[in-house]
Amino acid sequence: MKLFDVYPILDIELIKSEGSYVFDVQGNMYLDFYGGHAVISVGHSHPYYVKTLIEQIHKISYYSNSVYISQKKKLASLLGNISGYEDYSLFICNSGTESNENALKIASFHTGKKKVIAFKGSFHGRTSGSLSITDNYKLISPFNTQHETIFIKYQDFDSLEEKLRKKDICAIITEGIQGVSGIIDPGLDFFYKIQNFCKKYNTILIIDEVQSGYGRTGSFFSHQLYPIKPDLITVAKGMGNGFPIGGVLIHPKFKPYYGMLGTTFGGNHLACTAGIAVLEIIKEEKLIENAKKMGEIILKELSVIPEIKKIRGRGLMIGVEFDFPVMDLKNVLVYKEKVFVGVSNNPYVLRLLPSLNIDENHIKLFLKKLKNALSYLYGKNGKK
Ligand SMILES: Cc1ncc(COP(=O)(O)O)c(C=O)c1O
Repeated sequence: MKLFDVYPILDIELIKSEGSYVFDVQGNMYLDFYGGHAVISVGHSHPYYVKTLIEQIHKISYYSNSVYISQKKKLASLLGNISGYEDYSLFICNSGTESNENALKIASFHTGKKKVIAFKGSFHGRTSGSLSITDNYKLISPFNTQHETIFIKYQDFDSLEEKLRKKDICAIITEGIQGVSGIIDPGLDFFYKIQNFCKKYNTILIIDEVQSGYGRTGSFFSHQLYPIKPDLITVAKGMGNGFPIGGVLIHPKFKPYYGMLGTTFGGNHLACTAGIAVLEIIKEEKLIENAKKMGEIILKELSVIPEIKKIRGRGLMIGVEFDFPVMDLKNVLVYKEKVFVGVSNNPYVLRLLPSLNIDENHIKLFLKKLKNALSYLYGKNGKK
């Protein structure tokens, strides 16, 4: 059987990883400033993470949600504590798209409504509900068009309020910081206004922190820079450091009942063990503080590179905008300089999403490789 060929892949096979480095089958070492798409939060093959997963797999790796799984309780308790959302409850699933799908369901059950407001440039996942709130027509099949979503520009508050006035909107959903669109933070004014609109028009506020959460931006959730509290928060990616796990943090006003939500795999022993290990490492190694500090250093260093037009983001969620399309640069970085970086839907923007435990030596190495790549492509002093 062949694979269903949906991914344009790099011609690289990785067989080993350690910290911020990954190694290919030929023995080449790569600096990972992409974190496998914002997934690697505590570093590749972290010894404590590996040890606890191995210990757990020897005991029991899976049983369904029909039995008591103490690891689920422990994960929820740790997550409540580290995020400051102790009074919320947690529903555990397996991925980012599922977490958004479940958040939409909770909002819809609660309000009895179905229309959703999402924002231009959004990406929320590839299952039907999450796709319907994703602003990319190329991904949407006719089957996915049956939902009722209204896309609004981030700062178009007049249109937003006009839609809300009809009082038929179930939820407003936004990423904490948009990732796929090229690292866009809608900012304090936006969050403050949408929170007030949600209260005024009895609409649920969902913040998708799948990419921007779990310490990546220097606070546990990116929205915590602002004085707001969403009703539902979705997480995944960094939550398991590569083990598939996602979740919804749910305000106490939502009342659960048996059968309301469910999953076969979500919240199993092994997934929760991965989730617990990640939070323990984040706490023990002060990785949120580290993300903030390292992010500030990178932003400062990038700001003096002449080819860079704009730098966006916070902590270790950084968008670097050039005045030329970055695909060649990305390829030189990967194949020649041996460093992984991400691209985005904006062809001019590179995305940096390294693990939260990088240090200044990783940054120095990254900057050296970036300068080498620029000078290789655009001349000795890096000028185009
Ligand atoms: C903000 C955001 N939400 C949701 C998703 C979907 O997550 P998953 O691929 O785990 O379903 C992504 C994935 O890139 C994302 O960036």
